[in-house]
Amino acid sequence: MTPDLAPVPAADATASPSTTAPVAAPASAFSIRRLRVDLARGFGPLWAGGDAFRTHFMNALSMSFPVGEQFFIDSVRAGVQLRPAEDQARWAPLVRGFVGQEATHRHLHGLFNAELARQGLVNHWERWARWRIARSARMHPVNHVAVTAAYEHFTAVLATDVLQHPSRLAGAEPDLALLWRWHAVEESEHKAVAFDLYREMGGSERRRIAWFAYIWLLFVLESLAQTTINLWNSGQLRRPRTWGQGLRFLFGRQGLVWTTARPLMQYLRPGFHPRQLPDAPAVSAWLQEHQGRYAVVGE
Ligand SMILES: [Fe+2]
Ligand SMILES: [Fe+2]
Repeated sequence: MTPDLAPVPAADATASPSTTAPVAAPASAFSIRRLRVDLARGFGPLWAGGDAFRTHFMNALSMSFPVGEQFFIDSVRAGVQLRPAEDQARWAPLVRGFVGQEATHRHLHGLFNAELARQGLVNHWERWARWRIARSARMHPVNHVAVTAAYEHFTAVLATDVLQHPSRLAGAEPDLALLWRWHAVEESEHKAVAFDLYREMGGSERRRIAWFAYIWLLFVLESLAQTTINLWNSGQLRRPRTWGQGLRFLFGRQGLVWTTARPLMQYLRPGFHPRQLPDAPAVSAWLQEHQGRYAVVGE
């Protein structure tokens, strides 16, 4: 998901130093879970309670996940490999947890996206992302970790939003609501891994913030572009109802724009750390309640 034209300083040596001391990586990693859902059975073309905008916005997000999450995995692995041997040992359980969680998300959203393709949707976001990743291959890994940390903040904010507002998944097919909430729970669990690694690598605040500002713009443009394409391909774009749903979803009372703006903006503040934001609500209660729907396959 690396941009090619981002306003990033040439080198950290020339950038202002981080304004806070490096944050120690947590001592324990998190569980890797296999979700018990059968996506091969397929799902309806308006699976989010018949709401075309909500369905196709979330479909768009899902389209970006497999390529994005593979990039996150590769970036974190490459970043840790640059650390001294004793640091690598300390990072090993965190990397295992992070990679295990993201790889499982990747796999299930790959199955989800295969169903979207069967429904006639076309994934352009993945192509755009692949192009950018190829263009950024020669950048220093600290940039890839900065990009990963930026997207991870985005996913953590969206995860908190989904868990906080049941309306986001109102009327969703039960297995799909389960899939999205499980993903949200795990995103909030590992929300600081890439961020902490970035700091340990000596990444500057200026670089971190510049990448985030770029990615914020990119995310808004690409998510809306892919949503619009999905609505067009499904024949929903020209319906006034769809526009009403979109306006309500984004700008209505508790619209996504209002609920996410403040926590997203926090990332632009020098000295920010993801753990300064409140954790997503009821994560452990959700895990407890849905114990029968997943198996822990690794720690
Ligand atoms: Fe994920
Ligand atoms: Fe993640």
